Amino acid sequence: MSAILDIADLTVEFPTRREIFVAVDGASLTVEPGEIHGLVGESGAGKSTIGAAVMALLERPGRIAGGTIRLRKEIISGRDRAAMRSLRGREISMIFQDPLTSLNPLFTIREQLTETIKTHLSVTDAEAHERAHDLLARVGIPEPEIRLDQYPHQFSGGMRQHVVIALALCSEPDVIIADEPTTALDVSIQAKILDLIRELANERQVGVILITHDMGVIADTTDRVTVMHQGKVVETGATRLVLGKPSHPYTKSLIAAVPRPNVKLHRFPLISYDGRTTEFRINDLARNWSRPDTVSAKPLFEIGGLTKRFLQKRSFIPSRRQYLVAVNNVRFDIRQGEVFGIVGEWGPENPLSHA
Ligand SMILES: Nc1ncnc2c1ncn2[C@@H]1O[C@H](COP(=O)(O)OP(=O)(O)OP(=O)(O)O)[C@@H](O)[C@H]1O
Ligand SMILES: [Mg+2]
Repeated sequence: MSAILDIADLTVEFPTRREIFVAVDGASLTVEPGEIHGLVGESGAGKSTIGAAVMALLERPGRIAGGTIRLRKEIISGRDRAAMRSLRGREISMIFQDPLTSLNPLFTIREQLTETIKTHLSVTDAEAHERAHDLLARVGIPEPEIRLDQYPHQFSGGMRQHVVIALALCSEPDVIIADEPTTALDVSIQAKILDLIRELANERQVGVILITHDMGVIADTTDRVTVMHQGKVVETGATRLVLGKPSHPYTKSLIAAVPRPNVKLHRFPLISYDGRTTEFRINDLARNWSRPDTVSAKPLFEIGGLTKRFLQKRSFIPSRRQYLVAVNNVRFDIRQGEVFGIVGEWGPENPLSHA
């Protein structure tokens, strides 16, 4: 099968007053239709810079100093921003880590979806509305009819990321670049988003570049993987092969750092990072977590029977009003010296209630 996106020998530079900083140094990778290609590496390795270069979103004075980017064999890397803008979003969409970068707080989800649909596809208003509804349902947002007319702030963080995926799908792109789409989310929503991306690749033959720090995500979701270190590609290949038999020491250290359920680690393996070496002992961490002597017996503050509802359906008749119950009669207290964790799944299935 031939590649839909072909990045060959790409070099990206950021000139500074003192030197030219090479953020991406001769990197090559290809994405085929229906494939999820993982891009992994430490912070600062150049992963997002590759995404920005493909999307022509490099911040000035950043520039592509060498190599080519091809979309279906056609070179797109030399094009100016205006030409790229028309491609961007139509044939290639980007999903950013923070959904608020992609959503405008001043417009409803319906307005943002229909606007994007109409920019890229020649459809009537009614068709655009229908499509927006379908897309929201497609990405698993319950009650899309109600949700469409809400604003981004009325969604939870995980749901917003689903909306961003819906937004990325408006133009029926052939390539999606997902830059850490799940890093800010809890594991159960992370799994839902990754399943959705997998479905898109399988059903619509979208080619996906999935940028992540997380080797677990790479193992579970990607078909091929490219490992980057300090701007360079150090290893690339079928995920199964690279994870099963890594050849580069950096890849080995990344894999060794993933905790496995069947292996009991007494320490996290050493990973050298930024020239310094960080070492964690699990026992020390566990000791710090419990710290019984520093936690006071007296509550610092107490939450008793906290309930928060959001009005979903207005009506003059109070008994016909419908509310979404976001927090239902929650009690807890927090003591001095204590680190208090709140954990849970995302909330689209929250119950609706009447007044
Ligand atoms: N606008 C910019 N100006 C100057 N340097 C930049 C700019 N954007 C990125 N860089 C540098 O390029 C290098 C690669 O950054 P990039 O954002 O691609 O890393 P990354 O692999 O995505 O890291 P992370 O996992 O933390 O997101 C970094 O050293 C960064 O400081
Ligand atoms: Mg990044």
